[in-house]
Amino acid sequence: MNDELVLETKNLKKSFGKFQALRNVNLQLHKGEVLGFIGPNGAGKSTTIRVILGLIKATGGSATVFGKDVWKDSVAIHKNLSYVPGDVYLWPNLTGGQTIDLLLHMSGQKHTARTDQLIKEFKLDTSKKNRTYSKGNRQKVALVAAFSTDVSLYIFDEPTSGLDPLNEVIFQQHVAELKKAGKSVLLSSHILSEVEKMCDTIAIIREGNVIEAGSLESMQHLTRNTVAVRTKKPLDELQKAEGVYQLKFNDSSKTTAEFSVDSDQIGNVMDLLSAKTIVQLKTTPPTLEDLFLRYYQSADDQKGGD
Ligand SMILES: Nc1ncnc2c1ncn2[C@@H]1O[C@H](COP(=O)(O)OP(=O)(O)O)[C@@H](O)[C@H]1O
Ligand SMILES: [Mg+2]
Repeated sequence: MNDELVLETKNLKKSFGKFQALRNVNLQLHKGEVLGFIGPNGAGKSTTIRVILGLIKATGGSATVFGKDVWKDSVAIHKNLSYVPGDVYLWPNLTGGQTIDLLLHMSGQKHTARTDQLIKEFKLDTSKKNRTYSKGNRQKVALVAAFSTDVSLYIFDEPTSGLDPLNEVIFQQHVAELKKAGKSVLLSSHILSEVEKMCDTIAIIREGNVIEAGSLESMQHLTRNTVAVRTKKPLDELQKAEGVYQLKFNDSSKTTAEFSVDSDQIGNVMDLLSAKTIVQLKTTPPTLEDLFLRYYQSADDQKGGD
């Protein structure tokens, strides 16, 4: 594992007038990693990215890319960075093909065989004018240019929001390729299933605060597995077992049960089940959706009083 930091924000803040869009954003992206930046609409993902790109100035904290200050050194940083915005705006009178070449030219790159390959994979008709393209096609134009650009850091803001599932898969494959080539990727999304597949680490943002960040494993640790079990002997003891929640017996003999269990108690619970002679067992790992829900619920619980 390479520990080289490619991107870092520390206690990043951004206010628009009285409105504080970013309160405390802490992100770390290492070389060769894909960081998923996850949060609902309005949480502050695009604002954070705009600060990182040097398009707007932070009102507090710090942000560095390649160890350089994002505001002061944006010119140097941009030579080694590729960005695809969430809503791609393109020159209306250029064709998709002209646009791809222009975007490449602007970042000092060339149209290569790889560019042609990408156009083919995304099934993009490059002869059409940008103004005739759907949102998804505009995104494809920007993605083709980005993926055929050879830089160290790629930033995608909600990249697949306009893509159909087939193109989403192509996108995911190319992100995996970048990662294999040792590139770093920041990927924002409000769709967790996108992230599960591609990211090494995720950071969850809510109302301008990064409320949790780390590896997927370290976060799933916090969530509960769902267990469905059938045993020979009754399972009454589960009622007082530590870390067991939402226990439901599906028969009067109490030998068929469903429940959720804290990850750190799963060993003890399995011992308990084994002692009752397991006939059938199914455990379902927590999805990020569950994890997300739990964060939101706990934040809402804390707010409860006001
Ligand atoms: N230029 C701006 N002026 C005022 N408010 C803004 C501006 N840009 C973003 N915001 C507000 O900041 C919050 C975060 O927005 P944004 O970063 O776009 O969220 P996300 O990308 O996570 O959906 C939202 O409440 C949005 O309305
Ligand atoms: Mg956004």
